[in-house]
Amino acid sequence: MKKTLMIAAAAAFVMGGMVATTATAEAGALGKCKACHKLDSDKKKVGPGLKTVFGRKNGQMADMKYSKSMKAHAGEWVWDEEHLKEWVCDSKKAIKKFTGDDHAKTKMPPQKKCGEKADAVVAALKAL
Ligand code: HEC
Repeated sequence: MKKTLMIAAAAAFVMGGMVATTATAEAGALGKCKACHKLDSDKKKVGPGLKTVFGRKNGQMADMKYSKSMKAHAGEWVWDEEHLKEWVCDSKKAIKKFTGDDHAKTKMPPQKKCGEKADAVVAALKAL
């Protein structure tokens, strides 16, 4: 009986540690985004809420005043892994590529989260 309790306590400790690690990774990957985005809802802050952004089409949040380019091209792509990765690396470049318009501009400054860092951001967004 005592042994079982100890194993249960040890398991709870390990699981608790895992939760803490995930939460820290998420805060690290999305920490910068929080300055402009709500992560726990879809309400706008400076940018649109990101709670359900993964798998959502671009430019869909009614309460958000998107840039001209984002508005004009709303619904033309889905925020899947590929698009999100390019977006968080360099949104300035990405908006031109996604819209097919060399003059397209976004209100969101480039976040320079590229490569593995972008992977971490996308994973954290998925988990919201
Ligand atoms: C300085 C403020 C700012 C920061 C920091 C910022 N964003 Fe944004 N974000 C915006 C704004 C403003 C828009 C709207 C862009 C437009 O209309 O062109 C936006 C749009 C977006 C969109 C498109 C949503 C939609 O509804 O189509 C995604 C996805 C996004 N941001 C993700 C992120 C992530 C992830 C981070 C952190 C790595 C981040 N943003 C950091 C301001 C910011």
